[in-house]
Amino acid sequence: MLKDGFGRNVDYLRISVTERCNFRCQYCMPDKPFSWVPKENLLSFEDMFLFVKASIDEGINKIRITGGEPLLREDLDRFIKMISSYAPDVDLALTTNAYLLPKVADKLKDAGLKRINISLDSLKPEVAQKISQKDVLKNVLDGIEKALEVGLKVKINMVPLKGINEDEIVDILDFCKSRGVEVRFIEYMENASAKAGLKGLLGKEILEHIKKKYKIKKLGRFGSSPSFSYELEDGYRFGMIDPHKHDFCESCNRIRLTAEGFLIPCLYFEDAMSIKEAVEKKDMQKAVEVLKEVLKNKPEKNKWDEEGSETSSRAFYETGG
Ligand code: 5AD
Ligand code: SF4
Repeated sequence: MLKDGFGRNVDYLRISVTERCNFRCQYCMPDKPFSWVPKENLLSFEDMFLFVKASIDEGINKIRITGGEPLLREDLDRFIKMISSYAPDVDLALTTNAYLLPKVADKLKDAGLKRINISLDSLKPEVAQKISQKDVLKNVLDGIEKALEVGLKVKINMVPLKGINEDEIVDILDFCKSRGVEVRFIEYMENASAKAGLKGLLGKEILEHIKKKYKIKKLGRFGSSPSFSYELEDGYRFGMIDPHKHDFCESCNRIRLTAEGFLIPCLYFEDAMSIKEAVEKKDMQKAVEVLKEVLKNKPEKNKWDEEGSETSSRAFYETGG
């Protein structure tokens, strides 16, 4: 079992397989031109898998593949298959914007993927386009249907933004309810790549919208999930991810690997350590040492708890949020 310097068990690895994306979500990506990491700097799936194996052997039992947009990485199903063949019981999930999902959902499922989280910020084509800066809604909705059809467990993420999609909080909730999938509302997390002046809603403001239509019951956090669960009277459950709240980090059980091989202990942490050289030399003892060193330095808390004070300078499209 892996533990960090504050005694928290760490059993969850998030892997960003690429920082590239086919969307330019206002809350995530700069709209100014910027350069991607050159392809030759990326860890190969073989090398990533060496690290995945070592971390599973050390106690990781939950893995989420993220991006950027992970479906932009060729042969992602091959990487998923490597992991699921090595450890069929690992909880293996993917976060995607679903634009490319209609074509690959069945391949991913066959490769051993179990769960998928899809971003859906609006049900209006023009608003979805405004947020992601591309005409995306049809593909995203098709992607959701396809994922359900092939039997993946689907969750939806929505980031409510002031003056943009806050009027759709209940519509998205109702859509997810009708499709039998859980929605998670995520507080906008300030970061240096996001569009200037963007304002998110706090968890309590999101709940106010929902309370206009529904009575809600607080359930709590399950396990080490960052999401706080609520229930409507008919039993439908939804989640709230509210990093601006004080208790959010207490149960943090995760560590992140970037596409270039940096291990990052917290979205907020500037110092990362690379495992690239170690895995390329197949020195797994060294890679595990780096992992343990990074865990020792995992900070106790993020910095979104001080009103308006901090933004993350590390781009979420690098770390997979
Ligand atoms: N704030 C909150 N959530 C974010 N995501 C990306 N950037 C941010 C941000 N700045 C989340 C979105 C998306 C997922 C990939 O990460 O919910 O669905
Ligand atoms: Fe791409 Fe996801 Fe960032 Fe949107 S939030 S730009 S879909 S990585």
